[in-house]
Amino acid sequence: MSSSIVRAIRGEPSPGIPFWFMRQAGRYLPEYRELRARAKSFLMLCYTPDLAAEVTLQPLKRFDMSAAIIFSDILVVPHAMGVHVEFVTGEGPRLSPVTDAKAIAHLKNDVRGHLMPVGQAIQQVRARMKKEKSLIGFCGAPWTVACYMIEGKNVGDHWQETRKFALQEPALIETLIDKLVHVSADYLSLQVEAGADVLQLFDSWAGVLSEREYAKWVIAPTKKLVSLVREKHPEVPIIGFPRCSGVLYEDYAKRAGVDAVGIDYQTPLAAAFTSISKPLQGNLDPLLLATDREKAIAETKHILEVAHGKPFIFNLGHGILPETPIANVTAVCEAIRATHS
Ligand code: CP3
Repeated sequence: MSSSIVRAIRGEPSPGIPFWFMRQAGRYLPEYRELRARAKSFLMLCYTPDLAAEVTLQPLKRFDMSAAIIFSDILVVPHAMGVHVEFVTGEGPRLSPVTDAKAIAHLKNDVRGHLMPVGQAIQQVRARMKKEKSLIGFCGAPWTVACYMIEGKNVGDHWQETRKFALQEPALIETLIDKLVHVSADYLSLQVEAGADVLQLFDSWAGVLSEREYAKWVIAPTKKLVSLVREKHPEVPIIGFPRCSGVLYEDYAKRAGVDAVGIDYQTPLAAAFTSISKPLQGNLDPLLLATDREKAIAETKHILEVAHGKPFIFNLGHGILPETPIANVTAVCEAIRATHS
């Protein structure tokens, strides 16, 4: 019997509403903070299978979601390609920028050895998790990972240097994105082979692009990445999350080849169901979840009403915020469980 998430993506009925939360393992959980304090660094936490497996399972022990997502980060891929990556406390990621032909040529194309610990963590989680739950593997979509590689840090919501680079050096960014497509396909395949039964592509910065750029740097590379994964694993469902795509969500759903689409909290769900021809995932506002329990419960009920009878996975519209009270998460989980699909 496949999991409730896989069934939702295939449009098959299942008892109850499938749900999980992006960044469900993280700093809002005291048990995460405790384990994190014992690890040398955030990356060491990602690369130590025992610890990564434990962190992955922490939210399920508390909230019994329908799925675990393997604890890792989208930036382990550039790290595996030989880029310097570190996470500075209170600041976020720092990478050595990759902005010329030489640096791009030097990127490693074989990432399997470096990322083997993620596979080992997946094997451990799978062995410890109930069969009817999904284990979600993931990577960043090529555009979003390229943003971090080109700018070297999180620059908020414009990514102007990356867009300028794409306009001025189209051949170079094409080479970079193409390398990312191939290593990401290999990495996702590794995750499926280790036991992931659903995949998600995080394209957090899809929303900064114009229509023309979006077709070139979001849709085309995603399509290629999906087709490479499907050559090896034709059955594995793939969720695409091109955050803040606005009206371009429709093009993405039609052309990127993914099986389901993640919707940000800015997109009205009812309109999304009308215009997007795929199963949807989303879209509770993480700030509402963090700040107002009663309104978060009311919004959860509203989302479930809109999604009633449609193929749907309940989630947030972006990752859980570190300041989120655990009681709010518990209350939303209870509201989901109390609703009939
Ligand atoms: O969802 C999960 O529980 C799985 C783990 C996961 C992490 N990052 C752990 C993490 C996932 C799926 C990600 C994805 C990710 N990482 C994205 C895409 C989703 C999004 O948020 O848009 C992006 C852009 C990143 C890059 C990244 N990693 C940034 C910008 C930061 C710093 C900001 C922050 O939240 O601290 C990280 C660090 C990070 N990744 C943490 C965690 C739990 C916090 C690090 C710590 O505990 O010290």
